[in-house]
Amino acid sequence: MRRLDVFTLFPDAFDWFRGQRHVHNAERQGLDLRFPNYRDTTPLGAGQVDDAPYGGGAGMVLRVDVVDAALRNAYGDSLAGRRIVVLSPSGRVFDEELARELAAEPDMALLCGRYEGIDERVREHLATDAVSIGRYVISGGELAAMVVADAVIRKLPGALGDAESAVEESFSEALEGAPEYPHYTRPPDYRGWGVPDVLLSGDHERIREWRLEMSRAR
Ligand SMILES: C[S@@+](CC[C@H](N)C(=O)[O-])C[C@H]1O[C@@H](n2cnc3c(N)ncnc32)[C@H](O)[C@@H]1O
Repeated sequence: MRRLDVFTLFPDAFDWFRGQRHVHNAERQGLDLRFPNYRDTTPLGAGQVDDAPYGGGAGMVLRVDVVDAALRNAYGDSLAGRRIVVLSPSGRVFDEELARELAAEPDMALLCGRYEGIDERVREHLATDAVSIGRYVISGGELAAMVVADAVIRKLPGALGDAESAVEESFSEALEGAPEYPHYTRPPDYRGWGVPDVLLSGDHERIREWRLEMSRAR
């Protein structure tokens, strides 16, 4: 992936995220990471971005013309071929397979909703995907975008200090798609809680087999 835009009303929410080492590394390796604010490009007066839902009900809905304007401002008139992901509790549940798929895209937009959500026409006509980080509701798309962006960015070449970390981790091919095996570190005994002998044996082949076995069992 060469470019990742997270469209949001709260770009400052990503200050911490952007400071993370793997994100910083990915940017140094050429990832163009941006956080466009819907409010900066809204075609409406006084920075308006939302409106009351048709049919009535609580809350405000992010307008389709506002999201469209933000996308066109970033990408011009043709959105064809771009991966545009709207974050929604009702979307496809995000997992490692989707993270891998998205990381292989040349670019991606993540659309954060707030309030009651985003006008459905964004999902129908502008987005290629709707993605959920789980079957629960959080207050805005920013945390969901961080989850998705983090999982994707750590797959980019040069993002992790030690590239091996991503090769053999939970759900990787190296572990046959299974969760990772358990890790232990010093001290070898704490309150009588020991460490599996095999890990202290120095026998790398046995350790490798034990890890694979534990991973399958999990
Ligand atoms: C308060 S939520 C809107 C919930 C919506 N009214 C509903 O009941 O499905 C506001 C925004 O947070 C984001 N969001 C909330 N939960 C999410 C989840 N589980 N996965 C992805 N995004 C989520 C979405 O962008 C959503 O538009």
